[in-house]
Amino acid sequence: MQNTPIKIGFVTVSDRASRGEYEDLGGPAMQEWIGKALTNDWQPVARVIEDEQGLIESTLKQLADEDKCCLILTTGGTGPAKRDVTPEATEAVCEKILDGFAEQMRAVSLQYVPTAILSRQIAGIRGESLIINLPGKPSAIGECLEAVFPAVPYCVDLIEGPYLETDEAFVKAFRPKHAKKPSA
Ligand code: MTE
Repeated sequence: MQNTPIKIGFVTVSDRASRGEYEDLGGPAMQEWIGKALTNDWQPVARVIEDEQGLIESTLKQLADEDKCCLILTTGGTGPAKRDVTPEATEAVCEKILDGFAEQMRAVSLQYVPTAILSRQIAGIRGESLIINLPGKPSAIGECLEAVFPAVPYCVDLIEGPYLETDEAFVKAFRPKHAKKPSA
C-alpha cells in the first residue's frame, strides 16, 4: 500500500463546464485545496462530466474501483434544480452513507450563506473510497472541506486506505490516541 501512489479523485459535475461553455473552476479549486492540506505525495484523477445520473455513477465507480482513489471529491449538482442528481448518484454507488459529513458541511455553510440549506450534498463509502459531495460554487469548496477534513484521514484509515498526513498549519487531522501510524 505504501509504495503505490495515493490517488485523489476530483469530479466536476456540470452540464455547461462539460460542454466547454464555461471554464471548470471547481475542479482546480478542489485540487488546490488538497494540495495545501496533504503533505503526502498524491496524484489527481480529474473528470468533468454532465449532470447525468448514470454517468456520475459510472465515473464514481471507475475512480473508486479501477483508479483506486482513496478520496473522491465531487463539486456541483447538489441543489434542488431538475438536473441536480449528484447526491442520488453518490447514494446509489455507496455501501455506507456518513450523515455526519453532510450535517457538518451544511451547518458550517449556513454561517456563510442562508442558501446552504439548498445543498443536498452527502458523503459515503464505496469499497476503500470515501466520496464527498461539495456544492458547485468554488468558494463553497473550501468552506465545506475545512469543516470536515479533520475527520477525513482517520476515516480513510478505517476503510483501509493510505495514511493521510496534513499540514497542520492549514488543517489539522484528528485521530484517536490509539490510532497508530503504520510503520513504513
Ligand atoms: N455552501 C457553501 N459553503 N457556500 C455556498 O456559497 N451555495 C449554496 C449551497 N451551499 C453555497 C453552499 C447554494 S446557492 C446552492 S443552490 C446549493 O449549495 C447547491 O449548489 P450546487 O447545485 O451547485 O451543488
